Amino acid sequence: MFEEGQLYSPVSRDEDGAVQVHLAENHPGFSDPDYRRRRNAIAEVALQHRPGDPVPTIEYSEDEHRVWQVVSAELEERHHEHASAEYLAAKERLGLPRDRVPQLAEVTARLQPLTGFRYVCAPGLVGLREFYGSLADREFHSTQYLRHPSRPLYTPEPDIIHEVLGHANQLASPRFAALTHAAGEAVRRLGTDEAVQLVADVFWFTLEFGVIREDGEPKAYGAGILSSSGELDEFARMEIRPLDLADMGTLNYDITAYQPVLFAAESLDHLDDVVGTFFSRVDDDSAAELHARGLAGQRAGV
Ligand code: TRP
Ligand code: FE
Repeated sequence: MFEEGQLYSPVSRDEDGAVQVHLAENHPGFSDPDYRRRRNAIAEVALQHRPGDPVPTIEYSEDEHRVWQVVSAELEERHHEHASAEYLAAKERLGLPRDRVPQLAEVTARLQPLTGFRYVCAPGLVGLREFYGSLADREFHSTQYLRHPSRPLYTPEPDIIHEVLGHANQLASPRFAALTHAAGEAVRRLGTDEAVQLVADVFWFTLEFGVIREDGEPKAYGAGILSSSGELDEFARMEIRPLDLADMGTLNYDITAYQPVLFAAESLDHLDDVVGTFFSRVDDDSAAELHARGLAGQRAGV
C-alpha cells in the first residue's frame, strides 16, 4: 500500500492549448521559471507522440548534459561499493555514455539485442495497468526530462536518470528482465485493482528497492536505490527484512522519501523462487488471500 503523495507531477493543457507541468511547491524546480519552461516543452513532445511513431529526440542543453555527467560519476563510485554483481555486469554490458544524456532510441538500440526491452517516451504518470501491461510487451515507458540541477543526488520524482541509469542498466540483465516481464504478464492477467496493486507493491520492494545478500552484505539491485546516490549512501543502515510477499503487500510506503524498510533476497535463485513464482502464478483469489494473510500478520505484530 502506498501513502498519499504525488510521484509524477501532473500534466495538463490550458485553454490556449499550452502544456503545463504542475510542480509541487516543495519540488526543487518550483520557483525556477527556466526549469518549468523546459519541463513544459519536454512534456509537450511526449504528448504529441503517437504510439508506433519513432520515439522523439530531445536536444539536451549543456546544463542538462552536465547533470547527467555529475550524477553518472557519483553513481559510478557508489555502484562499485553497493550494487549487486548482477547489476554491475549488466551495466557494463549495456555501456551507456557517461558524458551526455543518451536518447531513448539509443537506449533501445543497446538494450533490445540483450533482453528485448524497448524504451518509449511518457509525459509523466502512466496508469498502473498501462505501465505494467506494456512490460509484458517488453516496452518500458520512460520520462525524458532531468531532475533539477540543485538536487542531483536525489529527486522526489523519477526522471530519465532513474529510468535509464536505474532501470535500463537493470533490464540489461536477463534475470531482472525476466522478472520485470513476468510482473507485466501478471498484471495483464489480473482482474481486480487490489491484485494489480499487490503486484505493484511487490515490484516496488523488489525491482525498485530490492537488495540481495552477497557474502552476507546487502547489495542493491533495485532501480530506485541505484539511481539515487543519496539513497545509496544510506541504504545499508535501513531496516532490512527477509523477502516476504504478504509483508510487502501490507507495509505502507512513502514514495517521495528515502525508504526506511527494504527486503533482502538471499540469492538470485531465491528471488526467482519467491518473486518470479509469485508473478507467474498470482491470480485474483491468491492475491486477496495473500493480502489477508499480511493484514493478519500485521495485527499479530509479526
Ligand atoms: N529517488 C530516485 C532518484 O533520485 C527517483 C525516484 C523518485 C524514484 N521517486 C521514485 C524511483 C519512486 C523509484 C520509485 O533517482
Ligand atoms: Fe522506477
